[in-house]
Amino acid sequence: KPNHHQHQSGATPEQKPLSCPSLSTRRELYERDFPLYKQPVEVGCFSLDAERRFFNDSRQMRYFVEPDRNPNFDLRDGYKGRYVKRDDSVREKLDHILRWIVANRSKLDSSATTASSRALDVDFVTWRGHLTKLLTTPYETREGWLLAVTRFSGTLYISEVETEAAQRERDNRTERHEEMMYWGYKFEQYTCADNPDSLPDPSGVVNTNEAFCTVVQTRLADHRLLFSGEVDCRDKDPDAPAPPACYVELKTSAEICTPKQRSNLHRFKLLKWWAQSFLPGVPRVVAGFRDHEGVVVSMETFHISKISHLIKNEYNCWKPTVCMNFCSDFMSFVKHMATEDNPSVVYLFSWEPRRDVTFSIHRDSQYSFLPHWYVKEMTS
Ligand code: A3P
Ligand code: MG
Ligand code: MG
Repeated sequence: KPNHHQHQSGATPEQKPLSCPSLSTRRELYERDFPLYKQPVEVGCFSLDAERRFFNDSRQMRYFVEPDRNPNFDLRDGYKGRYVKRDDSVREKLDHILRWIVANRSKLDSSATTASSRALDVDFVTWRGHLTKLLTTPYETREGWLLAVTRFSGTLYISEVETEAAQRERDNRTERHEEMMYWGYKFEQYTCADNPDSLPDPSGVVNTNEAFCTVVQTRLADHRLLFSGEVDCRDKDPDAPAPPACYVELKTSAEICTPKQRSNLHRFKLLKWWAQSFLPGVPRVVAGFRDHEGVVVSMETFHISKISHLIKNEYNCWKPTVCMNFCSDFMSFVKHMATEDNPSVVYLFSWEPRRDVTFSIHRDSQYSFLPHWYVKEMTS
């Protein structure tokens, strides 16, 4: 049974007579048995092309080509001249997922769904990336988040709102940071081919508008989830298991030279890598380790199912059960608080490190995110 830590923020009645319910993010509160997490099932996919246009198919799927154990990939190559960067000031919200839902209603209609009740038979619709942020919240010490929630026809839609701090960081990135963001995509180009029987083409353009996204359905405790996440590539073997088991997540990381650096990878980076891939059921992460000049000098595969064992020897380390129980309790909190079923009402959940999760309510505000075309389609 999920425990709700909806306390009165510790304020005395004189100080704060109308305190809002809140949810604690303290790790100790979530150290209980691992909650039920059903094997994620891929219910569909979509692609975003070089101009960020939506296609209800897998045209942007790429195929993993195992590199040499000791590669020599220059991640700086093409930064000046063969790089088309996605405009990250465009707020896409849930629009691509909603387009997918509209195009695939029939796949989602349960036996209980009749012509008169057109509701989706899921409790939550969101991006995988938003769920990754929830999973890592009990261990996050630097960056807070804002999550807008709207209840519409019984389903809770969760869409992230950029915090002021995140916008400031985005506006003030150093040239070095801008270039390093390119490195991760360049690594993908060195290790991915467009067809199962072709080779990677590092002479091409890196265009970060392009994406292949999986849409999965699963259940966390008593929460039925539908979410989408970008997938880097898949196993090119036609006999590989069905999606999402054939998918491969690619990562780059600084070269490891000392035991302390290895320990830091386990304690901080593997938390993010695990959370991101565990959610959609992606079984492995292939990491390329790079030196300070951006040259990948070694490779390592991390199996998601083995990460919890890998980290057990680390002092004061993160625990998968804390991540999943916090996420489950957050969803119970949202279900209880976001009660008005109205596509133009937003419950804005907000969190800053060392604080509890709180929320505020907004009607017909700048925060409303369900587009009219979606509301119309789903009510007709
Ligand atoms: P790395 O993961 O190798 O750092 P993803 O790994 O999720 O597929 O993302 C691909 C690349 O996008 C990342 O490569 C990184 O270069 C860039 N990227 C992803 N999230 C980012 C973020 N929050 N800030 C900056 N760059 C990011
Ligand atoms: Mg990716
Ligand atoms: Mg990746």
